[in-house]
Amino acid sequence: MKIGFIGGGHVAQVLAKLFINEGHTVVLTNKHGLEKLKPVIDRLGSQAQAGNLAEVARQDLIVLAVPYKAVFEIDDQFLKGKDVIDATNYFPHRDGDIEELREHQSGTSELVAEHFKGANVVKAFNSIPVADLASLVSSKDSAKKVALPLAGDDSELKKKAAMLISQIGFVPYDVGSLADSNKMQSDTPVFLFIGSEEALSKKING
Ligand SMILES: NC(=O)c1ccc[n+]([C@@H]2O[C@H](COP(=O)([O-])OP(=O)(O)OC[C@H]3O[C@@H](n4cnc5c(N)ncnc54)[C@H](OP(=O)(O)O)[C@@H]3O)[C@@H](O)[C@H]2O)c1
Repeated sequence: MKIGFIGGGHVAQVLAKLFINEGHTVVLTNKHGLEKLKPVIDRLGSQAQAGNLAEVARQDLIVLAVPYKAVFEIDDQFLKGKDVIDATNYFPHRDGDIEELREHQSGTSELVAEHFKGANVVKAFNSIPVADLASLVSSKDSAKKVALPLAGDDSELKKKAAMLISQIGFVPYDVGSLADSNKMQSDTPVFLFIGSEEALSKKING
């Protein structure tokens, strides 16, 4: 699959490497100029490129890997009709106070989906520090026991996200609809949790 990353920081770099290892190609973009990504692309190798937002948006699947507030700086028409994995987390101290989130009227990914009109959005890869993902993958046996949550409304896109989770060595765990993605946000017990499918289910469902 051709995978685009909006963001070229920790999350994009670790996931890009894991996806490349499974035969995918990646295009990464950033905020402060593609020159800054040159050493990253050199490290990732020939299956990786840096590109502008338009190039990223041309890929089959787009991963959002920017600080949460940066999502709303991106043109809202940009990802129309695109498959998007939202890996972001909202932290009020970093991203500012957002009333709908403070009052729990919406989940963070629901606001992302509202912003990118016409995009298919699932939430995944947000709940575990990416450094931990990489080290778990390096010992595949322990990764196999770890479940990663995903949530969204589009069943085909959920299958793609689940396939990526499985390919890099984890167990996909379907939390439910995009509205249910609030059960795997940074303000829930699932955040930073590393455990089996059964243990994750208990965390989510009590
Ligand atoms: N770190 C983790 O372990 C982890 C795990 C799961 C989820 N998350 C979440 O994933 C997101 C990214 O985290 P991170 O650790 O990768 O952050 P990071 O290392 O600070 O990287 C953020 C990236 O976003 C880019 N960016 C910022 N604004 C942008 C814009 N308007 N357009 C395009 N690119 C933009 C930055 O570009 P420049 O480099 O040019 O500034 C940078 O490449 C956050 O929401 C975080 O909470 C983090």
